[in-house]
Amino acid sequence: MCGIVGYIGKQKASHILLNGLKRMEYRGYDSAGWAMIENEKLNLLKNIGKVAHLDRLTPHDMINATVGIAHTRWATHGFPNHLNAHPHMDNSENIAVVHNGIIENYTALKTKLQKDGYYFNSDTDTEVLAVFIGAIYEKVQDLEKAVRIALSEIDGTFGIAVLSSYEPEKIICARHGSPMVLGIGDNEYIVASDAAAIIQHTNQVVYLNDKEMAIITRDGFVTKTIDNENTEPIIEEINFDLAQIEKGGFDHFMLKEIHEQPETVFNSFRGRLLADVGNVKLGGLNNMMDKLRKTKRIIITACGTSWHAGLVGEYMIEQMAQIPVEVEYASEFRYRNPIIGPDDVVFAISQSGETLDTLAAIKEARQKGATVIGIVNVVGSTIARETEAGVYIHAGPEIGVASTKAFTSQITVLSLIALLLGRMRNLSQPEGQAIAEAIMELPDKIRQVLATEKEIKAIAEKYYENKNFLYLGRGFNYPLALEGALKLKEISYIHAEGYPAAEMKHGPIALIDENMPVVFIATKDTIYDKVFSNIEEVKARKGKIIAIATEGDERIKKVADHVIYVPEVMPMLNPILSAVPLQLLAYHIALKLECDVDQPRNLAKSVTVE
Ligand code: AGP
Ligand code: GLU
Repeated sequence: MCGIVGYIGKQKASHILLNGLKRMEYRGYDSAGWAMIENEKLNLLKNIGKVAHLDRLTPHDMINATVGIAHTRWATHGFPNHLNAHPHMDNSENIAVVHNGIIENYTALKTKLQKDGYYFNSDTDTEVLAVFIGAIYEKVQDLEKAVRIALSEIDGTFGIAVLSSYEPEKIICARHGSPMVLGIGDNEYIVASDAAAIIQHTNQVVYLNDKEMAIITRDGFVTKTIDNENTEPIIEEINFDLAQIEKGGFDHFMLKEIHEQPETVFNSFRGRLLADVGNVKLGGLNNMMDKLRKTKRIIITACGTSWHAGLVGEYMIEQMAQIPVEVEYASEFRYRNPIIGPDDVVFAISQSGETLDTLAAIKEARQKGATVIGIVNVVGSTIARETEAGVYIHAGPEIGVASTKAFTSQITVLSLIALLLGRMRNLSQPEGQAIAEAIMELPDKIRQVLATEKEIKAIAEKYYENKNFLYLGRGFNYPLALEGALKLKEISYIHAEGYPAAEMKHGPIALIDENMPVVFIATKDTIYDKVFSNIEEVKARKGKIIAIATEGDERIKKVADHVIYVPEVMPMLNPILSAVPLQLLAYHIALKLECDVDQPRNLAKSVTVE
């Protein structure tokens, strides 16, 4: 998620902290803050907005603190605002905490602490941890022990740094699921969630392991598990330059985000699947259950890649819940006086949550009395605020203009919604359990697909000079054909079109010749044989065939020029797997053409104009 920096040493902390946050601003964030200790007093400043804004508000000349922590937030719980920004303090205001990650059991913890008389100022899960540490400190009077006990009660992911005026010469950091790196300087230490904030001070680092913590003072540090077992820190050397680090070692954000998909798809369903009963729990829809149970029609509205995800959602919901679904381009929907009313449910899908056409479509739908639900990545974004309820996809900041991990996370969330709707209707428990099992297997299967990147790169090297591509698929794979074509178009500027495979006979087949690479998404499903026939039709006209096929399918090798295999998965989830080779194919073709992969010409990450 976002950024943590901590410093203890002989220099002024304020510039080190703020510059450290700036090094991580590529990760996207909505608010930022710091806590520093001077004369054993804890000072804190936080605000919504950019790091530069916080920097301007910081009275550097008046602060001589040499120990502090700082944070940039990418909200998961609680809108981006001043109160929800980090650091968060305990009720005594002597302990400050910054946190990256998600505390799954924060609601129960918060309720218990409130019953014990503790109060909260924010809506975040993080403040619950800060208050919890403070409550324990009251009993144990030992900061390290209080942190260890609190973390042992936490479910979820954390990368944290803790500072306290009770023990002012100390920073405690810990990690589980969110990275924490300790930089070892000359009698000074920098702790951060990303080496980007450390590299300019030292290249000697210790990467904390899961459930490991570090207790850092001016004189040194010790590492131990949160179960209080000492660990031997392994000092490593950062061996890449700052530019690289900002991309986590990848050459482009797009490639990094493609490779993040096992984790981001996992984060989209984590804590939401009730596998034992074959159902889901989506907290954001709690007050919508009656509407969802009664609705007879669903409209999905979005733009671009999000619209393609919506098309997959249509097929999923109609198959699992037998509810008619229409998918509308937001820019069309908003102007054509749609015939919708109070019984209809509209899902608005948007990675950025700021796409103006989608926002306008939402307003139009609400104007007509429909219930509007958001499926959004950026917490607290405009669309998240404008919709009556919603499900965050938890894909983390997506920096590359070409949407990749958001697409697969959107489809993952749509599969959860389809399962929820289906189980409200005729979908049986065993059917639901099978779907839940298949969803849980996705992260490992995506890893298997990512392992074919070298083969995909070789195919890109053969076809990057072609001027036109066709992408063809049927059923759940038809929206994928559209998405594959869009990925190629937007980053390589090669003309590409996606069609339902059968539609090719009604005109596009006239385009086929030996210069036309045709990408078929031909994975095993009930209409595989029909797609196979379409492949033969293309082959008969000398088209070059790149097929995405199911592992074990030997038959397709007889007709395709190239085959990229993906693991077997239930057809409705295949788009999540088969999107990956399409993303990698577009990426490597664009790379060969030396295009600006992360910032393609004419495009913006969020289209906030009409
Ligand atoms: C997809 O790669 C493009 N960046 C674009 O089509 C994008 O999906 C579209 O602008 C919608 O953006 P949103 O999901 O943020 O609303
Ligand atoms: N879950 C915390 C919050 O929403 C931390 C988010 C982050 O990783 O920045 O404030």
